[in-house]
Amino acid sequence: MSKAGDWLKEKEIATWRTAVSALRMEYTGEELSEEKIGEDPFAAFEHWFAEAVKHAKYDPNAMVLSTVRDGQPSGRVVLLKGFDERGFVFYTNYGSDKGQALAETPAAALTFHWAELFRQVRIEGKVVKLSDEESSAYFHSRPRESRLSAMVSPQSQRIASRQELLDLMEALKKRYDGVEELQKPDDWGGFRVVPARIEFWQGRTNRLHDRIIFERESLDGSDTGGDVGSDTERTESSSPQNQWERYRLAP
Ligand SMILES: Cc1cc2nc3c(=O)[nH]c(=O)nc-3n(C[C@H](O)[C@H](O)[C@H](O)COP(=O)(O)O)c2cc1C
Repeated sequence: MSKAGDWLKEKEIATWRTAVSALRMEYTGEELSEEKIGEDPFAAFEHWFAEAVKHAKYDPNAMVLSTVRDGQPSGRVVLLKGFDERGFVFYTNYGSDKGQALAETPAAALTFHWAELFRQVRIEGKVVKLSDEESSAYFHSRPRESRLSAMVSPQSQRIASRQELLDLMEALKKRYDGVEELQKPDDWGGFRVVPARIEFWQGRTNRLHDRIIFERESLDGSDTGGDVGSDTERTESSSPQNQWERYRLAP
């Protein structure tokens, strides 16, 4: 097998181009029953996430974040960095494309795919910005190099070359040489997706999969502490578990 980074030969590429429709595997997950999934989608997610951490080869916390800007959907992978009954947290640059999309349209979808378990989880809801304190606490828990990268990268903006980025990094490292404390940039921080819908998908044999959905009324700005600007006001106002409706969809 070729190493990642080696370019495949033309012929090998051509073979896969024609054989792609024949790529097929059987999903052999266990039955996902209403009884097993229970009444509380957060507890169910916690359970599935723990199994993903145990079985996924890489990045069990990687998820596709989908946003909409000017009616155009856009997806990219980000890392889940926390979850509880308030929602699902990730960190990014607020000035990035996704940051601007969320400022315009504070709603998103998250999609996890745990191939080893034949599982998918889809989460949809409103999005709120984390408080500056919460973002700072996470920023300071990151390795120094990651903090410097967050400070130096004008995420999603055009740059002339990789060298430009390396030069900026070099200059920043010199500037903060011997300085222990690095300040979180104002345009870097977290978002929380407050779920209105969570779907658990379990791949089963012969494509007769299980899909169980939890849905509740979308939490609007009044519940989430206003617009995407902040979630400092948002505390225990999220709907209690018993307001979730649970149903099954055809696969
Ligand atoms: C495995 C993986 C994890 C990533 N994690 C993050 C993340 O947590 N935050 C982030 O801003 N970008 C992350 N990225 C990069 C994003 O996918 C994306 O390239 C970047 O955020 C710019 O997206 P945008 O231009 O749509 O804003 C990750 C990419 C991969 C492949």
